Amino acid sequence: KETHKIRVSLLDWYDENQRDLPWRKRYSEDEKEKRAYEVWVSEIMLQQTRVQTVMEYYKRWMHKWPTIYDLAQASLEEVNEMWAGLGYYRRARFLLEGAKMVVEGKDGFPNQASSLMKVKGIGEYTAGAIASIAFNEVVPVVDGNVIRVLARLKAISANPKDRLTIKNFWKLAAQLVDPSRPGDFNQSLMELGATLCSVSKPSCSSCPVSSQCRAYSLFQENETNPVTDY
Ligand code: ADE
Repeated sequence: KETHKIRVSLLDWYDENQRDLPWRKRYSEDEKEKRAYEVWVSEIMLQQTRVQTVMEYYKRWMHKWPTIYDLAQASLEEVNEMWAGLGYYRRARFLLEGAKMVVEGKDGFPNQASSLMKVKGIGEYTAGAIASIAFNEVVPVVDGNVIRVLARLKAISANPKDRLTIKNFWKLAAQLVDPSRPGDFNQSLMELGATLCSVSKPSCSSCPVSSQCRAYSLFQENETNPVTDY
């Protein structure tokens, strides 16, 4: 019941308020692999880099390599040149090596998180994002934003950097993910964390799940228990 309410509230909010980003176009049913490639590139770029910066790099990248087949033909020099300024160049090399793996393999684009994780540079987070957003697999996605949102929602004060704690957030996210729209649901959590549910000044008055949020209700009852602690 509570879970259902959270899902509906988040999805409705996401439908109305998601930011217009170049990797959030309308894709048709036969564009799943194209979408998977685009989610992959965007999620790798978004690790350690702000959305604002990523947008321009992303557009240039897709202009040069519109498909994974184009990318697989690129040289490491070209890829590094395209990446110049984004930092953590290992991410660019892994993208190239991963694209080659997928294109050279005979099984096509891996469409499940478990098989995606065998690709160079794709960990649990990126695998979950690609599988849920592009292929509708019912798997969770947990990053720093999602951890903060879930920690507040459930008033979990355990150290979010601790390995076991992170594992528990993956379990919690797996229970929460909406089986009918896993990709949108995962993005709604990330989006909420990236916008309203910010680290130091959360906009609880605009939040779609404030009435389900335990940190928010504690904050209402007890002024010494700020939501910002999560
Ligand atoms: N941050 C990283 N990936 C994101 C996504 N898919 N949606 C919203 N915020 C994100």
